[in-house]
Amino acid sequence: NKRVKIKELLTWEPKDQQVTVMGWVRTFRNNQFIALNDGSTNNNLQVVVELGKFDDELLKRITTSASLKVSGHVIPSLGKGQKLEVRGETIEILGDSDAEKYPLQPKKHSLEFLREIAHLRFRTNTFGSVFRIRHSLAFAIHKFYNEKGFVYMHTPIVTASDAEGAGEMFRVTTLPLDNPPRNEDGSVNFKEDFFGRSSNLTVSGQLEGELGATAFGEIYTFGPTFRAENSNTARHLAEFWMIEPEMAFCDLEDNMNLAEEFIKYIIKYAMEHNREDLEFLAQRLADEEKQLPQDKRSEMGLIEKLEFVVNNSFERITYTEAIDILLQSPAYKKKKFQYDVKWGIDMQSEHERYLVEKHFKKPVIVTNYPKDIKAFYMRQNDDGKTVAAMDILAPGIGEIVGGSQREERLDKLEQRMAEMHIPAEELWWYLDTRRFGTVPHAGFGLGFERIVQFVTGMGNIRDVIAFPRTPKNCEF
Ligand code: 4AD
Ligand code: MG
Repeated sequence: NKRVKIKELLTWEPKDQQVTVMGWVRTFRNNQFIALNDGSTNNNLQVVVELGKFDDELLKRITTSASLKVSGHVIPSLGKGQKLEVRGETIEILGDSDAEKYPLQPKKHSLEFLREIAHLRFRTNTFGSVFRIRHSLAFAIHKFYNEKGFVYMHTPIVTASDAEGAGEMFRVTTLPLDNPPRNEDGSVNFKEDFFGRSSNLTVSGQLEGELGATAFGEIYTFGPTFRAENSNTARHLAEFWMIEPEMAFCDLEDNMNLAEEFIKYIIKYAMEHNREDLEFLAQRLADEEKQLPQDKRSEMGLIEKLEFVVNNSFERITYTEAIDILLQSPAYKKKKFQYDVKWGIDMQSEHERYLVEKHFKKPVIVTNYPKDIKAFYMRQNDDGKTVAAMDILAPGIGEIVGGSQREERLDKLEQRMAEMHIPAEELWWYLDTRRFGTVPHAGFGLGFERIVQFVTGMGNIRDVIAFPRTPKNCEF
């Protein structure tokens, strides 16, 4: 008697089939109706306990979150909202649960509260939907690049380099904190450390990805990255996952085309494979928005928004055009922006959101940023001021992609690194790609949690990763 998953079982025609199901009790009504959930869907299976068949001792143990093994026949249901149910003929308690102590009560909990019980929140409908969609997106990412012939490359988690040159690294060390070996000048002697030098968690797999691209042609990475940036916002994590494709023989235009095609592909995949979960989250969002004043509500529902994104091209503008739009905006003229706008600024999230949410009302690709606000590896444009960068901004989120064409000219790259005080001798291996058969190449990084946020409509990035790592928070 093989176990059937509830999601699959609910698609059957009830014809007295004998089945076994296992799951956790969501509710138990009138000593007769068990709502059983096994995590395959938010829809619970109704198990009807045959009256008089089980002793009171057993019935008492059927409490919220107790785990059960149930066998019985699949029969049409007389109840509303379900076409079938299972007549519970044998019921085995796999694990008891003290319902009084169980933190998840069968009622609506706030997302903030659920973050405090992150170890249990997967058992709620909201998180069930979010994490099934997260899974689908991850699968679709591999499917997309596999279909295109990209090689999946596992870049290291522990590195010696700072790919972004932003100094936001978590150090990795086995040296004793209280009394580390020191050099004569008093600084810590990392030659005594595990790797014989200082090392840190990776902020991006890009530099190693470039090594792969200049051998395989096209690669992608998909792994965890770490940033010790002290940003306590709804879109920053200290540990997040990033997808970084890198392509040889590719310029900025090809890079943008790939990024747009990629984002649309994975959203479409989720829309085709996670309809039920998306509908659940769309409804959740709609209910939430009903609490807001009219002018704060979204113009589109979640599914409508996703359909719109998949079916319309992204806007493409240069950084200079973006700044002009901001300077012309009513928001700027009425001094609604907290941060000043002028050519050269690193756009703040309020600026990015103005562009995508108020002005274009669709995803926007911004290109050719000032070189001084971008990383050392970006290809310098002929104007001497900008680099061939591209960021993709999404409604409700802001930046979801950062990428660029790479500087493939050794002399220009070395010069830029010197200007930015990036130690060339430590990146000798990176510079070798420019010495031995350099090629135009480009790539980008998509923040995985940000796209999961976009697709699920979740307002806080802490609610789309299982165990969020944020400043002062590493509980689970
Ligand atoms: O723009 P970023 O810093 O670019 C890079 O790391 C490049 N090396 C990527 C490349 O070209 N291969 O980061 C890329 C994306 C951002 O657009 C954002 O979506 C996400 O990574 N991201 C974060 N997501 C969550 N929390 C953070 N602290 C993030 N920092 C960046
Ligand atoms: Mg960026």
